[in-house]
Amino acid sequence: MQLSDCHNVEDFRRLAKACLPKPIFNYIDGAADDERTKDRNTSAFDDCDLVPNVLAGVSEIEMGVTVMGKPIAMPLMLSPTALQRLFHWQGERAVAATAQKFGTWFGISSLATVSIEEIGETIESPKMFQLYIHKDKGLNRSMIERCKAAKFDAIALTVDTIVSGNRERCLRSGFTSPPRFTPASVLSYAIHPMWALNYMFREKFALPNLQTHVDAGSNVAVSVAEYFNTMLDTSMDWAMAEKVRSDWGGEFCLKGIMSVEDAKRAVDIGATAIMVSNHGGRQLDGSRAPFDQISEIADAVGGKIDIICDGGVRRGSHVLKAIAAGATACSGGRLYLYALAAAGEAGVQRVVGKLRDEIERDMKLMGIRSVPELDASKLRWR
Ligand code: FNR
Ligand code: LAC
Repeated sequence: MQLSDCHNVEDFRRLAKACLPKPIFNYIDGAADDERTKDRNTSAFDDCDLVPNVLAGVSEIEMGVTVMGKPIAMPLMLSPTALQRLFHWQGERAVAATAQKFGTWFGISSLATVSIEEIGETIESPKMFQLYIHKDKGLNRSMIERCKAAKFDAIALTVDTIVSGNRERCLRSGFTSPPRFTPASVLSYAIHPMWALNYMFREKFALPNLQTHVDAGSNVAVSVAEYFNTMLDTSMDWAMAEKVRSDWGGEFCLKGIMSVEDAKRAVDIGATAIMVSNHGGRQLDGSRAPFDQISEIADAVGGKIDIICDGGVRRGSHVLKAIAAGATACSGGRLYLYALAAAGEAGVQRVVGKLRDEIERDMKLMGIRSVPELDASKLRWR
């Protein structure tokens, strides 16, 4: 299988599985406990159908939307995900370049393998920094100040990782950042020589936004669970979230909101967006799917805050359904991570291009000329 055989996210998932050592693939593909929520995140979109109109004169359509004050060329954003240079040596650089090419939001994680400064210098398109609140308050301040200096457009505070989800695939493989070659995994690394050569001989793995203050994750191998449970501030609460917003002073998103109650509180503390998200099913298995929550959250706070449906998106039709249900836009991680792992920037550009084409094609088949025409009247729940 090769790049030209990949026509959708699932094709890229298969190619990534062939290209990656098993521990790395399972870190991307895996989720918490029995992975029911990860599966539901995508299958939720099958519980409703789109009702098209025809003869609507759709030779020219406009799929742009505005999120956190920034106009973007399509209603799909690239979510912040950690450790990207472990998946492909180009890492966040490939994803940032793709976000710029397609004119959409791109987020780098606190656990990114490329620095805030480099991303700030490299792309003009909207960029967000995903902040994990650490116990080390100096580190929190440092990351916020670095984002200001690098002229990032938004901070997304992740609020659904107060403790780590139970990632059993990672427990079995012994996955860590940076990777340790355990007896259970060494063979899998050995039979992926391209990955191993790139990892060993290209730029040394590091977490440049953290290693100013902590060794864990960069120089000291730790599991993500261990990192979360020892380094992150488990006392984080609404007062701390409001202080981050105030300290940052710019566009502020809460990532990991799932309830109407919390969506309202996000408005109250002055957040400008929420990512309705369960972290791709990687945290609370048994959580409802983001798509299932969009309608009630949009009924409650629609128009007061941007609502981003994050998780499970694999098709352009999923984006249309989420927007019809009340989302401002959608966002996703695995939808581009499989492609990154499989083929670097060429892969990410291909998959985002495919998804963009799906959105355009489906809008035309829906008889929709612009995104605001997508509303609940275009959906029928089974
Ligand atoms: C993530 N996600 C994530 N979220 C976050 O706030 N900070 C992070 O560092 C990461 N890292 C990360 C790594 C990997 C490998 C994955 C798959 C996900 C969650 C991510 O931002 C997003 O919420 C989910 O990926 C959405 O689900 P889908 O699109 O992957 O189904
Ligand atoms: C994850 C963390 C890094 O989901 O957000 O792996």
